[in-house]
Amino acid sequence: MSETMQGLKRSCYCAEVDENMIGSEVTLMGWVSNRRVYNHFSFILLRDRTGIVQVVVDDSVNTPDIVEKDKQLGKEFVIAVKGKVMARTPENINPKMKTGKIEIAVSELRILNSSEIPPFHIEERVNVGTELRLKYRYLDLRRPNVAANLITRHKVCGIVRNFLSDEGFIEIETPMLTKSTPEGARDYLVPSRVHPGNFYALPQSPQLFKQLLMVSGFDRYFQIAKCFRDEDLRADRQPEFTQIDMELSFVDENDIMDINERLIKKIFKEIKNMDIETPFLRMPWNEAMERFGSDKPDIRFGMELKNITDIVSGSEFGVFQNAIDAGGSVRGINGEGLGGLPRKQIDALVEVAKTYGAKGLAWIVVNENGFKTTLSKFFDDEKLQAIAERFNAKTGDLILICADKDRVVFDALGALRLECANRPELLKPDDYKFLWVTEFPMLEYDEEEQRYVAVHHPFTAPMDEDIQYIESDPGRVRAKAYDMVLNGCELGGGSIRIHSKEIQGLMFGLLGFTPEDAQERFGFLLDAFKYGAPPHGGLAFGLDRIIMLLTGAESIRDVIAFPKVKDASCLLTDAPNVVDEKQLEELGIKIDIEE
Ligand code: AMO
Ligand code: AMP
Repeated sequence: MSETMQGLKRSCYCAEVDENMIGSEVTLMGWVSNRRVYNHFSFILLRDRTGIVQVVVDDSVNTPDIVEKDKQLGKEFVIAVKGKVMARTPENINPKMKTGKIEIAVSELRILNSSEIPPFHIEERVNVGTELRLKYRYLDLRRPNVAANLITRHKVCGIVRNFLSDEGFIEIETPMLTKSTPEGARDYLVPSRVHPGNFYALPQSPQLFKQLLMVSGFDRYFQIAKCFRDEDLRADRQPEFTQIDMELSFVDENDIMDINERLIKKIFKEIKNMDIETPFLRMPWNEAMERFGSDKPDIRFGMELKNITDIVSGSEFGVFQNAIDAGGSVRGINGEGLGGLPRKQIDALVEVAKTYGAKGLAWIVVNENGFKTTLSKFFDDEKLQAIAERFNAKTGDLILICADKDRVVFDALGALRLECANRPELLKPDDYKFLWVTEFPMLEYDEEEQRYVAVHHPFTAPMDEDIQYIESDPGRVRAKAYDMVLNGCELGGGSIRIHSKEIQGLMFGLLGFTPEDAQERFGFLLDAFKYGAPPHGGLAFGLDRIIMLLTGAESIRDVIAFPKVKDASCLLTDAPNVVDEKQLEELGIKIDIEE
């Protein structure tokens, strides 16, 4: 039943047809999105990646051949049409459609292929579950609004390549089959056939290779690089994702931040025609934690954390006093206007705090004639008044208070702050608030492993003024590291690297590596550093996250052509899956898992 395209050439895409083309002839090819019969007319909605245009077959005018073919059409049939662009009569204009002022009067119609009835109706707002959409992702991607995300992604990659090339960067590919890179997640491993029992790791980032390229003298490198991390999935995390990765020699933090601000500015200008103000706000990590309880603060709204340790210390309330005595603090936020929350929802907030390790959460509702609070047994109205004043609380507000180690207090209140702000008037999607978080601590004490671990990675340089504390007070050392944050999302991060053998040695010592361990894991980098490593640093953006925020998508899944779901499987291909016994034999692998 299918015909050839022979003799027909597409003249433009469906959504490119407009009023300026009225009277001219076009040839279009695409999929039948819908077909509706009315009197002696048949209206075909023809779709391609750009959008939809209406094609009209008229029984009283068209040849029997065309009329007959039109009758055979079903949803998602692939057709070619030739016809004249006509203005729609005023009562037939569809203002919701980009091509709603015109339609195509058919003069030739060919059925290029038929289609089975698709598992869901392919339209802008499909009303089907994610599972079905991802199982038939190739059909899901026929929806022009979904395709638009990938087209934006393509454009951003183009802008990045042009911008960085103009700035003197060279694009270089680094290996996918490699040795484990220390970015802190679990590796995906690939068994070697030639070296039975040995494994490659897929890169968590090109970190070590880009540093080697600096030793080689490339000076400015970039790559749009696939990275692989076996970690728990979230809305902004996929097991394989893409970085815009770069590294530069003979630069300091300011040079790197400047280039990347200009890159982001350019992307927002070209994609959204928005003027992003630069330079971005810079906020030391310490301040971000104290004010927002987060190292990726959403600064579109206030409700900042306040420390009330001074007001509440010396009280009879054991929970607060014990936390203070143990070196912790008592802090809170003002959930503005939430004083009327039903008890059930306040209890839900307490549960949120508990998921971050808080043992409890105290609250104060500010009423017209006083306070309603879990603290009434321990604090009189005067004290409660002093607390309310610290938060600038008004009638109708809900103050949430947490006492614990600083880290727990920050995490819990940081999360509660986002919960309290989860209202459209506060989190406007088109309000883009960028900042750099700087001066991260270099090390973090891991209670479980009983040792320090690198906050960024082991090659990040300490701030010059803190080098003196590396041995005496490692927890105090700040790093030359920076994260770019947009609306509570970490878009990218990087650092100036260590290029001195001595400091790298100290660092490995702190991280608990013996010189032999370090040589075993990163020997190739340490060896390279013996031959003249220039001062260098870099950064990597999460490309998927940038596209998610640019397009307003809810998850990075929506900006990846073939994404994975929560359990890291691909519903389309059914990966991961079992393999042939023969393949395993060749690799010397035996599966030892109980059914
Ligand atoms: P980092 O680990 O911070 O730094 O990663 C850089 C950026 O990559 C994005 N990202 C992710 N996006 C989607 N899914 C994931 N699972 C995921 N993990 C990370 C984030 C993050 O900011 N080599 C260093 C960079 C450097 O120091 O130059 C690195 O990889 O947007
Ligand atoms: P509990 O002793 O666990 O019954 O707690 C009594 C009250 O103390 C709770 O209702 C909370 O208001 C408050 N509370 C308990 N733990 C904390 C904490 N870590 N931080 C702040 N308030 C707490």
